[in-house]
Amino acid sequence: VDAALVSAVGAEHVLTDPDLRAAAEVDWTGRWRGACRAVVRPGSTEEVAAVLRICADAGVPVVPQGGNTGLVGGSVPVGVPGAVVLSTRRLDALAPVDATGTVVAGAGATLAAVQRHARAAGWAFGLDWAARDSATVGGAVATNAGGLRVLRWGPARAQLVGAEAVLASGAVLSRVDGPVKDSTGYDLSGLLCGSEGTLGVLTRVRLRLVPPLPAERAVALVGVDGVPAATGLLAAARRALPGLAAAELVGAAALALALRLGLPAPLDAEWPAYVLLETAGAGALDDLTAALAEAPGVGDAVLAGDAADRARLWRYREEVTPAISAAGVPIKLDISVPADALPAAWEALPATVSALAPGAQVVLFGHLAESNLHVNMLSVPADREPAVVEAVLRLVAGAGGSISAEHGIGRAKARWLGLTRSAAELAAMRAVKAALDPAGLLNPGVLLAGS
Ligand code: FAD
Ligand code: MLT
Ligand code: ZN
Repeated sequence: VDAALVSAVGAEHVLTDPDLRAAAEVDWTGRWRGACRAVVRPGSTEEVAAVLRICADAGVPVVPQGGNTGLVGGSVPVGVPGAVVLSTRRLDALAPVDATGTVVAGAGATLAAVQRHARAAGWAFGLDWAARDSATVGGAVATNAGGLRVLRWGPARAQLVGAEAVLASGAVLSRVDGPVKDSTGYDLSGLLCGSEGTLGVLTRVRLRLVPPLPAERAVALVGVDGVPAATGLLAAARRALPGLAAAELVGAAALALALRLGLPAPLDAEWPAYVLLETAGAGALDDLTAALAEAPGVGDAVLAGDAADRARLWRYREEVTPAISAAGVPIKLDISVPADALPAAWEALPATVSALAPGAQVVLFGHLAESNLHVNMLSVPADREPAVVEAVLRLVAGAGGSISAEHGIGRAKARWLGLTRSAAELAAMRAVKAALDPAGLLNPGVLLAGS
């Protein structure tokens, strides 16, 4: 197999040396560690197809990997003996932006690269989050990722016009050319969105770009006395600010960890929670100031109009993830609940965790507009982890929520998918998997437990 892989992609792109493989064998959090026979880096769709044909013939499992910033263990070869990690990083070509504002990007292009490319053509890319310099658009589509602009532009699925992917057999599906409107049967590109590397390897994606946000913008970091106040503030901001571009939530424990990285306290007093709002458009700072003066629930606030000050306020949100990892190896969850269930969930989550792991630290933050909470837990004893995760996910399911709102199921949550997807849905998913990857070679153990 290794010799065939070398002849398919070149010796310099088949990494078998343990030192060269190491970075691909562990995830961003350090929670998921595995081993692979080789990291293979094809440079074209044809080379991806050749690699998958070789692996199919030899019965070798394949773990697709983009930027390896995924947070659910789906991008690393854990418990998959003899697997090949197929890195998409060399598939990073960007075609010119077309007249309708779509662009075909290699799956291995980073979010930041697509953002820059879009900007140079007078457009913007609707996806953005803190891992923008490493996360790839292929990974974003594979996980239906969300981020900081979902309020405005929706998740990865909403940016996807069409995809090119290679199936386990080596067959190539390509829907990245031609018209943007298409009603010819099954939406195979849409099916690949959120498939987490279990149905095919995305090689190119055609993305719908968005108009750039106006340069005039304002950001506020608002201290609130709880989540009911945060949701009241959001509702008022939505009504008052047509240019609202972000609404993020940071709990007190999350802010405290971010401050440990050296950021100064943003407000004079500490608050149970903080809301970061961003609005864009002419008069943004005045509009935001006026909206906060009228809105309920504002305890205290700091506002910023110029770019450097806005970036400074954004750090209180974007540094939360690194700050958590600086404090330990967290259990990370990315749940969502119906909007009216958010305050109760916020209250119940810490107690649910401490009932099973009294010494655990629960850090809550997330995307307020989608009621998408990141439940991060530190210092949970290893033998309590499954019970703690299950309790949180059951609470979410009981509230009518989703056990994953943006990171995907991965290995971390595969055994709990049935909490929020019905038996009929699971059977349909398994049937799709069996049809497209009958030998189960693409990302075994991810998404569908036992796959
Ligand atoms: P990887 O981590 O390499 O892979 C993720 C999954 O996609 C794996 O299952 C992998 O097999 C599969 N995959 C990757 N590429 C392909 C491909 N070409 N074809 C088929 N399958 C593929 N996520 C959010 O949604 N919102 C956020 O706000 C957010 N913030 C983050 C902040 C930080 C600091 C970090 C570290 C991560 C954050 N993430 C966030 C998580 C992560 O960036 C996303 O899940 C992202 O989509 C992963 O992209 P990637 O290229 O790193 O994919
Ligand atoms: C975020 O919103 O910052 C991310 O999804 C990362 C995380 O969950 O830590
Ligand atoms: Zn997030």
